[in-house]
Amino acid sequence: MKLDVKNIRLTEAQLPLLLIGLTEEAKEKGANLKLTGAMKKMAQSVIALGDFKATQGEHSLLYSNGKIPSERIMLLGLGKRAEITPDQLRATLGGVSRVIRDLGVEKLGVSLLSLAQGALSEEAVAEIVAEAFIMGSFSDPFHKTKDLDKFKVIKELHLITQKDTKGIALAAEQGRIIAEAVNLCRQLAWGPPNHITPTRLTEEAKKLETLSVKTTVYDREQAKRMGLHSFLAVAKGTSEAPKFIVMEYGDPKHDTVALIGKAITFDSGGLSLKPGEGMHLMKADMTGGAVVISSMKAIAQLKLPLRVVGVVPATDNMPDGGAYHPGDVIDTYSGLTVEVISTDAEGRMILNDALSYAVKNFKPVAMFDFATLTGAMEVALGEHAMGYFANDDAVADRIEKASKSSGERVWRMPLWDVYDEQLKSDVADWKHTGGRPGGAITAARFLSKFVMDTPWAHFDIAGQDEQTSDKGYNPKGSKGPAVRLIVDMLRYWK
Ligand code: BES
Ligand code: ZN
Ligand code: ZN
Repeated sequence: MKLDVKNIRLTEAQLPLLLIGLTEEAKEKGANLKLTGAMKKMAQSVIALGDFKATQGEHSLLYSNGKIPSERIMLLGLGKRAEITPDQLRATLGGVSRVIRDLGVEKLGVSLLSLAQGALSEEAVAEIVAEAFIMGSFSDPFHKTKDLDKFKVIKELHLITQKDTKGIALAAEQGRIIAEAVNLCRQLAWGPPNHITPTRLTEEAKKLETLSVKTTVYDREQAKRMGLHSFLAVAKGTSEAPKFIVMEYGDPKHDTVALIGKAITFDSGGLSLKPGEGMHLMKADMTGGAVVISSMKAIAQLKLPLRVVGVVPATDNMPDGGAYHPGDVIDTYSGLTVEVISTDAEGRMILNDALSYAVKNFKPVAMFDFATLTGAMEVALGEHAMGYFANDDAVADRIEKASKSSGERVWRMPLWDVYDEQLKSDVADWKHTGGRPGGAITAARFLSKFVMDTPWAHFDIAGQDEQTSDKGYNPKGSKGPAVRLIVDMLRYWK
């Protein structure tokens, strides 16, 4: 989607559609239409007839019949002025972006002034509009060969203002970078497991080299020599080549933040085989890895003044004759030994190596991991929030702040050491599962053994990868979770 900023009056724009926001208050006064002559009368008559009340997300399409250069005006209800929040505006715009896309309109202008309600500046609105349209109108034909004309796209988005365009263009560009990273994450997360393999993820990570991200990828043999035995235990049952992907961005003189992402490119459960029903959804068990690769891209494009290291252990979890067994005792990169209970708890097997690898080799000041780790977390929070566990209140504060600014809902879960009782093993240092009670918490406790004293948070994003219907700026499918949260956390790091 091409983005630009135009310093013109709405009546000067010559576009297929102009989008104008209206609050309930403005509607009552009949003011703030920023329209003149016949068009203003048309809009007022729609309002007077009661056909448009400016409730949140409501929209009304008016045709100009040559009375102004643009062909259509869409009035968009913003609801009550006092209730508008950045994320609610993003969601309203995201919703209407699909309506406009599905009309077949490829170019539109958006009145920034009409959306800059309350404390929101036109710059802030520009970022929100860019994000909302790029995320909200996202659709991917994936591998369809028929009916491709159904996959309409908005090609040009013109932000219309009477203010200086420079700051607005900068804000819109940030929005574009962030939203495109979210869309990349969605494409990877929702792609089929025979296409989105560890090798394909490697290719995506390698593409970041054009943005000065140093990408190093270790194969099975190299990982073995490095001592990544826990990661390799999961990869034993698959003929698909596993990859341990390490991405480094930024100057080592800055503080280092590490991002770790679980990338199980298909989770069959291994020998502890999952039931067949719903198994296809385990194509998205690499969402954490997609989150990290996509976020690294946005971080590099935004040129953030930090050093950020991304570690993505990527493998299928399959049950062939060489597969790891329940009952195995596995050496880990950290030196601790782990008793395998269920081969379906493979996420924590690949993550523990990635966490201790990042700690040992990069000494991060903070570390965050993202993993579709437990069904228990999906049961607890559903699709509307990510659960996180933090061993450090300052890290938790950063997450809460980024959650507010990005609108990505998070909920802090407990990391009390009493849960370790469930992880005690008779034969190894730890069992890797603790049974059904508190399943998401014991998983987090297990991971905590591998972060040393690094300030750290673990995000269990199970449940974020299968939204069943369009909602706001999230179309059906993967939300591309956590990317905006990560970027907000890091761009306001200092
Ligand atoms: N990838 C799954 C978790 C998952 C479940 C993600 C549902 C998204 C939706 C994970 O590897 C897994 O299978 N976890 C097990 C752990 C158990 C064996 C301790 C689970 O949650 O059942
Ligand atoms: Zn599993
Ligand atoms: Zn899994």
